[in-house]
Amino acid sequence: QAASSLRPVSETLTYRGEEEYADLNWDDLGYGLVPTDYMYIMKTSENEKFSFGELNRFGNIELSPAAGVLNYSQGLFEGLKAYRKEDGRLLFFRLEQNAMCMTMGAERMCMMSPSVEQFVDAVKQTVLANKRWVPPPGKGSLYVRPLLIGSGAMLGLAPASEYSFIIYASPVGTYFKEGLAPINLLVENVFHRATYGGTGGVKSISNYAPVLKAQGQAKSKGFSDVLFLDSKTKKHLEEVASCNIFILKGKTISTPATGGTILPGVTRKSIIDLARDFGYQRYKKLKTEQLPELDQVEECLIPVEELIEADEVFCTGTAVVVAPVGSITYQGKRVEFRTEDGSVSQNCTQPLREFRWVSLRTKWILNANLYI
Ligand code: COI
Repeated sequence: QAASSLRPVSETLTYRGEEEYADLNWDDLGYGLVPTDYMYIMKTSENEKFSFGELNRFGNIELSPAAGVLNYSQGLFEGLKAYRKEDGRLLFFRLEQNAMCMTMGAERMCMMSPSVEQFVDAVKQTVLANKRWVPPPGKGSLYVRPLLIGSGAMLGLAPASEYSFIIYASPVGTYFKEGLAPINLLVENVFHRATYGGTGGVKSISNYAPVLKAQGQAKSKGFSDVLFLDSKTKKHLEEVASCNIFILKGKTISTPATGGTILPGVTRKSIIDLARDFGYQRYKKLKTEQLPELDQVEECLIPVEELIEADEVFCTGTAVVVAPVGSITYQGKRVEFRTEDGSVSQNCTQPLREFRWVSLRTKWILNANLYI
């Protein structure tokens, strides 16, 4: 049934709000879609800005077969998570950062975008309406998927004249089937994820289907995911199909510099901020519990040989959070990395899992985490 023909949520929200938890086995959450109660839809009218959206029951949407998104891939998405805290409040992780990513992506894809305020408000409404689907504390999170699509119909290649902003949500556990255990990556030799001047630096829907072939081949050989190299020299790390990558050598953390082909993920940015602050804490001789001593964080070109020589490797993303990499296979050779307790992917990333630490430099944990 088309969502637009369903009753607005305001008529049913009170009833749903009374139920604390949906009927679900919270101990068995993976990363599949669990349809929740409501989704949010906001549309532009013909060449007008976004102004008014509303919650609808979750369901199929109606689109013209000539919609810009279906024919010319005019679409963007974001991913973010809401967590339930012990005191019952819901916590978002740097929600406004995702809103800004969507705005920047929309500029690249010639799309109209909701404002940061509209994005944040719509996500809050969606999560509150689906509150009974937010897993109990420690059991997972509610993954929220904002989608921006060219929904206007046209035939000639041009920006659509109408856009739809849709948000749906699903309770999730860990992204990889390995759970929190280390993942195994295959370096891809043939296919590339992004090209210079393309859309690799924004979360365009068109970036994802092209990775499926390489990912499928790797998965069929037992790998968790694929690590792509740059398309120009085929020598430098870019990113994994579903997340960014970091390496640690000695006391230096490095991650590929964004330059249009790397997605500047919110978790990537957070790890950079945190790791820089850990160095700062060490310098000031502050008590740092088990924090690792890191000299610097570099955003740079990383030749694949440096990856092979790394002490540790880990991946970051909203869906994967922080995933330690146990092995990388490159040109038939498998290299293993440190992943035990005490590794950076365990220590440095604990703040992200627990929201416990404040970044001294940017204060982002306090400022950017939003409770509702
Ligand atoms: C996310 O981390 O939210 C992503 O977009 C990855 C997606 C391919 C599952």
